[in-house]
Amino acid sequence: MIPLIIDCDPGIDDALALLIAAGSPEFQILGVTAVAGNRPVDITSMNACRILDAASREDIPVYSGCPRPLAYPQARCNSVHGEDGLGGAQMPTRRSPAPAHATQFIVQTLRDAPAGSITVVAVGPLTNLAMAEIMHPGILSRARSLLVMGGAAFCSGNITPSAEFNFYADPLAAHIVMQAGIEVKLFGLDVTSKAIMSTEWIASFQEMHSTCGTAARTMLDAYANRDPLLHDACPVAYLLDPALFSGESCSVAVSWQNGPSEGHTTVWRSDRRNKPFPANAVVFTDVDSVRMLSLVRQRIAQLP
Ligand code: BDR
Ligand code: CA
Repeated sequence: MIPLIIDCDPGIDDALALLIAAGSPEFQILGVTAVAGNRPVDITSMNACRILDAASREDIPVYSGCPRPLAYPQARCNSVHGEDGLGGAQMPTRRSPAPAHATQFIVQTLRDAPAGSITVVAVGPLTNLAMAEIMHPGILSRARSLLVMGGAAFCSGNITPSAEFNFYADPLAAHIVMQAGIEVKLFGLDVTSKAIMSTEWIASFQEMHSTCGTAARTMLDAYANRDPLLHDACPVAYLLDPALFSGESCSVAVSWQNGPSEGHTTVWRSDRRNKPFPANAVVFTDVDSVRMLSLVRQRIAQLP
């Protein structure tokens, strides 16, 4: 089993990523941490509780994290996922997040486990992870692997012409994480823009009458017109079947200064001369989307 921390801002595609992970026996999910991003952190934290409870995974603790980016007083949210962040899907919960802060949980879990044993998947703004690195320099490099949904390496952005939402929402945090000394597996828009949900695939959820199947259908119906891409499911699908994806080793920098290029990803391919620093990421650029969609549906179908 892969011991896993998932840091997220649910968000509909975050919800799908959580459902796939919750329905996959390959993972031991140690905790889910929430951050401000798609919605404010009180909403994303409660959404994580809702999603895990829908999947009958009350055993997985949820920790609420940072309410705002490092350099700005207010969260940079978006409206793509609806007011509630879940496109109106009803997923009741009776619990609240655990008392510890998300950053505390990340630090303690990585510190207490043997180095190189825990995988971290981050699919929201990187504030919680950057805070962990600030509190304990070197903590992120204790992870076995760090998978991030963020950035637009060789393509345009989706929130500004030059920036992808997660990197734009906390560019300084993205910069800190990319420079933390661990090779980041980076699932940016280059690859997630190819993880397209087809109309037939969305329609196929109508045959799923389970709690999670019904919730997935409502969320997908709400999301499809706005952003029909399975961004956050990509790193989770990668852990289940790495052969679905291809990418290349690169040196990646994030622009964090305020201005029009805030959150921009600058990438030097490994064969380029004059790289400012050695490769710090594998930038994924392609996915077998047909097989990925089938994997995602199959895992959600296994849930209650
Ligand atoms: C990212 O932004 C959010 O809206 C999604 O949840 C995803 O993590 C895509 O740019
Ligand atoms: Ca997200």
